[in-house]
Amino acid sequence: MAKVRVGLVGIGGMGGCHFYNYEKIENAELVAVCDVRKEVAKEKVGERNINIYTSLDKMLKSEELDMIDICTPSYLHKSMTIKLLEKGYHVLCEKPMTLNAKDAKKVVEASKKTNKNFMVAHVVRFMAPYMYLKSIIESGELGKLIRLDMKRISGIPRWSWEDWMRDEKRSGGVATDLSIHDIDFVQSILGMPKTISAYRYNMKDNNDTVVTNMTYGDTLVSCEGCWYNAEIPFHATFLAVFQNGCVELSDKLYKNGKEVELAKADADKNVDLGINVGNDDGYLKEMQYFVNCIIEDRRPSYITAESSAQSVALVDLIKKKAKKLK
Ligand SMILES: NC(=O)c1ccc[n+]([C@@H]2O[C@H](COP(=O)([O-])OP(=O)(O)OC[C@H]3O[C@@H](n4cnc5c(N)ncnc54)[C@H](O)[C@@H]3O)[C@@H](O)[C@H]2O)c1
Repeated sequence: MAKVRVGLVGIGGMGGCHFYNYEKIENAELVAVCDVRKEVAKEKVGERNINIYTSLDKMLKSEELDMIDICTPSYLHKSMTIKLLEKGYHVLCEKPMTLNAKDAKKVVEASKKTNKNFMVAHVVRFMAPYMYLKSIIESGELGKLIRLDMKRISGIPRWSWEDWMRDEKRSGGVATDLSIHDIDFVQSILGMPKTISAYRYNMKDNNDTVVTNMTYGDTLVSCEGCWYNAEIPFHATFLAVFQNGCVELSDKLYKNGKEVELAKADADKNVDLGINVGNDDGYLKEMQYFVNCIIEDRRPSYITAESSAQSVALVDLIKKKAKKLK
């Protein structure tokens, strides 16, 4: 296969990001897009030679595609993924895999029954500062991890189609939609925690905040995910304290107080991302990795279906345990 023929479903905020990235992926061709809002798709596609559909079934019937990239609202991930895997497509699906652990298990089952590739686009696992942190934890360079504090803070998401993000039934709320980025990152390295305690503000004015503490032996990990009803710019930060030093992501990435030159840090040297994966854009990196796996006929082992399902299960546990503050 010279080029992977891709169909993209859902071309809103995240679909738009994926859409433009395909222009940078040489071994993929974006052949068709599908969105229930034709005008949004038309605007993005412009003069490009890409076919537009408003129904996924019609796109599948009319096009010869190898891979479908799912960027629809989260409540559609389960049904679309299972259907597409059963029809024999490679599937890249935005996070979260599903809205709950029961559904995630069904997706894992579907992925086991096909020889096609499936991956959830956990972009944080591909972001350079986080890959760097992972390499420091795993190499033991700074000794044992004592404390990891991760924050992901945003204003209320008001931009989504039909306001689906602010509807707990369709997005799962801030833990499933936002905090899952950090929770998945932690889970992918440290596994399931020994203990969990959490607090949740879910107020009538639509603030939604989950603050979670997890212990792994005597290592304490906190993940904070917030949608605040305030003009607050999005930011994602972490502080990792080890026996012999620390790594911090704030405005930049620091190790022991000195800025880390990520281009030279070689943080992904232990991950076989395949051909042409060299830049720091996590979104492009995850997409290029998935396409490479198809071209090279190998499974995307960096993020497995089982591991994504485990992260959904952990988020479920956190939501169940969370003490409501309001
Ligand atoms: N990885 C990240 O950093 C990140 C960031 C934002 C969102 N996301 C994820 O991406 C997904 C999409 O989020 P978004 O912010 O782009 O939302 P959005 O509302 O901006 O876009 C969703 C799009 O899907 C379309 N759509 C709805 N139903 C459809 C259907 N049945 N068939 C085809 N198209 C349909 C809508 O018209 C809309 O254009 C969500 O799962 C979200 O959690 C990931």
